[in-house]
Amino acid sequence: MFELYKNIYLLLVILVLNHEANSSLISIDFSRKINSSYINLPEQVSLIGNLKANNKLEKASYIGKGKLIGPECMAFDNNDNLYTGIGNGFIYKINTKNISDITIVTLTGPQTQDFCENKNFMEECGRPFGLRFKENDYENLYVADAFYGILKINLKTGLKTVVIDSKDKRFGGKPMKFTNDLDFDQDTIYFIDTSYERGANDFLFEYLEAQPRGRLFSYNEKTNELNLLLENLYFPNGLQLTPDKNSILINENTMSRILEYFIKGDQKGNTRVFAITPGFGDTIRLTERNTLLVPIGVSRINKLFSVLDLLGKYPTIRNIIVKVLDFGYVLSVIPKYGLIAEYDLKGNPINSWHDPSNKIISSISTGITHKNKLYLGSLLSDFLSVLDLD
Ligand SMILES: *[C@@H]1O[C@H](CO)[C@@H](O)[C@H](O)[C@H]1NC(C)=O
Ligand SMILES: *[C@@H]1O[C@H](CO)[C@@H](O)[C@H](O)[C@H]1NC(C)=O
Repeated sequence: MFELYKNIYLLLVILVLNHEANSSLISIDFSRKINSSYINLPEQVSLIGNLKANNKLEKASYIGKGKLIGPECMAFDNNDNLYTGIGNGFIYKINTKNISDITIVTLTGPQTQDFCENKNFMEECGRPFGLRFKENDYENLYVADAFYGILKINLKTGLKTVVIDSKDKRFGGKPMKFTNDLDFDQDTIYFIDTSYERGANDFLFEYLEAQPRGRLFSYNEKTNELNLLLENLYFPNGLQLTPDKNSILINENTMSRILEYFIKGDQKGNTRVFAITPGFGDTIRLTERNTLLVPIGVSRINKLFSVLDLLGKYPTIRNIIVKVLDFGYVLSVIPKYGLIAEYDLKGNPINSWHDPSNKIISSISTGITHKNKLYLGSLLSDFLSVLDLD
């Protein structure tokens, strides 16, 4: 009991210390539905060895500042063009040979571009959370859209096709509410739904509830076969096939870990913990040197500021928080630490880039390497950033 009182006390201190006069702290709404689950996080990973804090990210520079709001996903074509999806549903193309050259590719939702300008998280506008090209096909950009499912954009004609509708009848009584990322093995698309309960605009409540509502699916574009591979995942929000295509790595955000699910070989169908991450991770991407980049959206470095460390074992308190605190306010107290870690294919951290005091970027959601540069984006930033790798 003492621990509970101590943690509530700490939480109150954080709330009061971080409260800015011009924002509302309290927004009571007892109709908000919430059912938090008990969660016992793995032991916190220490920032030592290859994860030791540094200031490397402070040398990064901005791309599209003020224009690229909330970039959560990135993909490169074979011509040095970087694609990213942002908060109001737009996909942008950035010519990395001249980073002022930024153009709109499309809007993922059905609304008009005029309507969606200056909006954020609207179902009508769409919300791209995962982008990928298939190997050797740079004409079609595949999108995991939080509201609509898996889409395919033909970059020559602009034609937008729904590959898997989030409300496809085969999902039964549990349509996808929060499609988040995808990857390929030839004709098979692997993709994740973060939650069958809440949509992307309620991501913070979904995070605080920490219920295992995520699923992994596969879909074959040739045979039209859809399969549920895994369920009861904790806020899965990134996935990456290993280079040998034998397994899938999945970021389980609210468990602060990466799972490996075997799709081939003797271990087929098994799941193991691949790595415990130093915080709540996001999109995973393979680098050009066959390592993995894992951005840490919310770090667990300062225990004081990590709600799930503080209140994971006290779901009732989290239920109250959701009913009485302002959503924007809760977002504003997320620790502002920038961290992206690199892992080898055995799950060992081999490198990390930090921005401990948010000089350039924090709450990193997505990272990708291209021609010896590291590109980064964050759900909470209004830019992409780029850093030379040495
Ligand atoms: C709340 O979550 C628990 C699991 O943590 C589940 O057993 C229960 O059925 C849920 N209750 C409601 C009303 O959804
Ligand atoms: C870079 O792109 C901007 C915006 O499209 C353009 O005005 C400028 O001329 C380009 N610079 C070069 C060197 O091509």
